[in-house]
Amino acid sequence: MRKLMLAGVAMLLAACGNGDRETVTFTEQVAPLLYKNCTGCHRPGGSAHFSLVTWEEAKKYAKANAYVTRQRIMPPWPADPHYTSFVGQRVLDEKDIEILERWAANGTPMGPEDKLPKLPDYPIGSETGTPDMRIPVPPFRLPANSPDRFLLVKVPFELPNDTFAALIEFMPGRSNVVHHVNGDMVRYAYEQKKDVYAGGQFVDMARDTVGLKQAYELLGLPNDDGSWPALQKSVVNYLPGVFGQRYPEGIGGYRLPRKGVFLLNDLHYGFTKKDEVFDSSYINIFFAKVPPQRPLQEFQLGTWGVAPVEPNLVIEANTVKTVYSRYTIPADISILTVNPHMHLLGKRFKGYALTPAGDTIRLVSIPKWDFNWQYFYTFKKMVRVPAGSTIVAEGVYDNTRQNPNNPFSPPQEVSDKNGSMKATDEMFQFIISYLPYQPGDESFSLE
Ligand code: HEC
Repeated sequence: MRKLMLAGVAMLLAACGNGDRETVTFTEQVAPLLYKNCTGCHRPGGSAHFSLVTWEEAKKYAKANAYVTRQRIMPPWPADPHYTSFVGQRVLDEKDIEILERWAANGTPMGPEDKLPKLPDYPIGSETGTPDMRIPVPPFRLPANSPDRFLLVKVPFELPNDTFAALIEFMPGRSNVVHHVNGDMVRYAYEQKKDVYAGGQFVDMARDTVGLKQAYELLGLPNDDGSWPALQKSVVNYLPGVFGQRYPEGIGGYRLPRKGVFLLNDLHYGFTKKDEVFDSSYINIFFAKVPPQRPLQEFQLGTWGVAPVEPNLVIEANTVKTVYSRYTIPADISILTVNPHMHLLGKRFKGYALTPAGDTIRLVSIPKWDFNWQYFYTFKKMVRVPAGSTIVAEGVYDNTRQNPNNPFSPPQEVSDKNGSMKATDEMFQFIISYLPYQPGDESFSLE
């Protein structure tokens, strides 16, 4: 009787066009899927705290994997793929999710051993390849129960000659405490600085009550004669899940002086729990074969940007508030990469451009804001935005109890405190990397 009923179900499934009764196994269907979409982070030494490489490991998380993929929590990709799509987009299709669900439901069988695919070769110590040079960031000890720290950190370097970098990549040591980095480069004229290593390594901006100029002096940044060297902004950035973007040869890139300093401005460490944490992060440099012909340019809307937050970024307790920032561009540009930025009260984000002809150019939509996954989204092809277009960033903040990430209970008024970077204050930014438009840019592949 029981057998008959099962046969009936099988026939029903077949009738629904879902008749693939083949058992889903680890080696045949699950491992290929995990190795393509998950083990970049879920492997020994990856950024997630558990591995999904072996059958034993994947088995333990079978139900959780089915759940987080169905809920589209994993792989992390907050941007709506139906609005715009980007390089390296990580979005599972329905068939993949069903494989994980069926495997979890059917007792997680191993499958024929010889069918197991080879794990991709993950570069060690870099997300993008084998770096030409690796510079350690001075190690930092965070005691147990330490609050958020915001450090200015000096990372000096000396090279045999002037050269070009295609990419400068920050690699966190302990990715569970390194929240973000925004790094500039100090460029010395060779004769003007004898020793780039002299001076302090850290200034704690919250504890050492010094101004920025004094902080730079404590780090020994001035030239030997007391004058100031050149500072190039934003050459090395890191946010959770974000690694350096490498553009096709000749686009982007940086001129590296023989003597210089990466000035991490700032390095934000999250709070620690009961254990102390030692972080040894480092910076990878990938040299460029050809000098950059079209160096990248950047502007940002919102906090500290070219256009203000409207009406303002004061979010009263128990309210949901929508804010905007609008900037009209004077000349044609080609957009390569966009980066929306909000903190814990963020709920939704949308960025688009309105052209003088009345068209809307979609840039990015994040229907469910996730503080942990703030990517720099690079378009597959550059997006041309004509002169006179208004770029609009639209953000929604939820300062109610319904927001599970609300840092305050009961909710309190939260604002930008004039550009504070603390996670419990707010920010609203839309950062845009672009080039002045050249004919043909629209068909230029960035993949
Ligand atoms: C970009 C990196 C990345 C990718 C890709 C990724 N994960 Fe994750 N995953 C994480 C991180 C980080 C966490 C948070 C927990 C941690 O700190 O390890 C996590 C958490 C999880 C959790 C636990 C969720 C919870 O609530 O504790 C599951 C299950 C999971 N991932 C499964 C997957 C699966 C399945 C895939 C592929 C389809 C995948 N992940 C792809 C980084 C990633």
